[in-house]
Amino acid sequence: MASLTGSVAHLYALLHRGTPGDLRFYRSVCAGGSRVLELGSGSGRVALDLAARGHVVTGMDVEPALIDVAREQVAAVGEDARERLRFIEGDIRDFDLDERFDRIIVPFNTLCCLLTRSDLEGCFRSASRHLEPGGLFAFDIYRGDPDTTVDEGETHLVRIDDGARSWDVYERARAHDDPFRADTCYRFRANGDEERHLTIAQRLVTDDEVERALQLADLSTRQRFGGFEGEPLDDDSPHLVVVAERPG
Ligand SMILES: C[S@@+](CC[C@H](N)C(=O)[O-])C[C@H]1O[C@@H](n2cnc3c(N)ncnc32)[C@H](O)[C@@H]1O
Repeated sequence: MASLTGSVAHLYALLHRGTPGDLRFYRSVCAGGSRVLELGSGSGRVALDLAARGHVVTGMDVEPALIDVAREQVAAVGEDARERLRFIEGDIRDFDLDERFDRIIVPFNTLCCLLTRSDLEGCFRSASRHLEPGGLFAFDIYRGDPDTTVDEGETHLVRIDDGARSWDVYERARAHDDPFRADTCYRFRANGDEERHLTIAQRLVTDDEVERALQLADLSTRQRFGGFEGEPLDDDSPHLVVVAERPG
């Protein structure tokens, strides 16, 4: 993602509210663990929820404007939770925090923002280095089909309200030569005259790439689902949901 301005970061946060069932899933993954690291924490949606439930949470993101949004949200949680929560700027492809965590999570398709296989492998290696033995690494990834032609037409997605104005949000996909790559382009339009734009570059990740990256990082798969309710994974599953473990 290109560096966001503050106003677009707020619109991004209003638009990206997660996948139904994902919060419940990450709560259950984190149960029994104290220290949690969220990679690609965005506006803090998941990190805030986990801190309010007693976990000590670090959220890492590459976008300073989203970290600012997350820090603004911290005021909304109780003082106890505030003390357990921090947001730091960092690149999840390669990081070194000099500490270990019981759980590392990567919610809501963040891994699709990594644009090469080696970025994915670097992320998993970094995560593994930061896990306690027996610690869990959990993530979900949207599963698209690289053989489907990208429809580049623009559609009206939703209308969102930022408190001051209503914004109509339009979405358009932009294809690449590489069928695994596509950009999602958002156009936000308020009061019929003001416009903001946001483009998110994404890459489809195959199940095999995920398995290989886990192996290279010495992480062993404990559970693989096709959704957040424990649905079995099959060819048509819209999501790959994985819980892996760093062996003790
Ligand atoms: C779809 S959002 C998910 C936000 C949050 N995890 C949630 O569930 O609401 C993806 C996030 O990953 C962040 N991101 C993308 N590439 C990154 C990178 N290389 N390092 C750190 N953060 C990254 C983006 O800035 C964005 O906040």
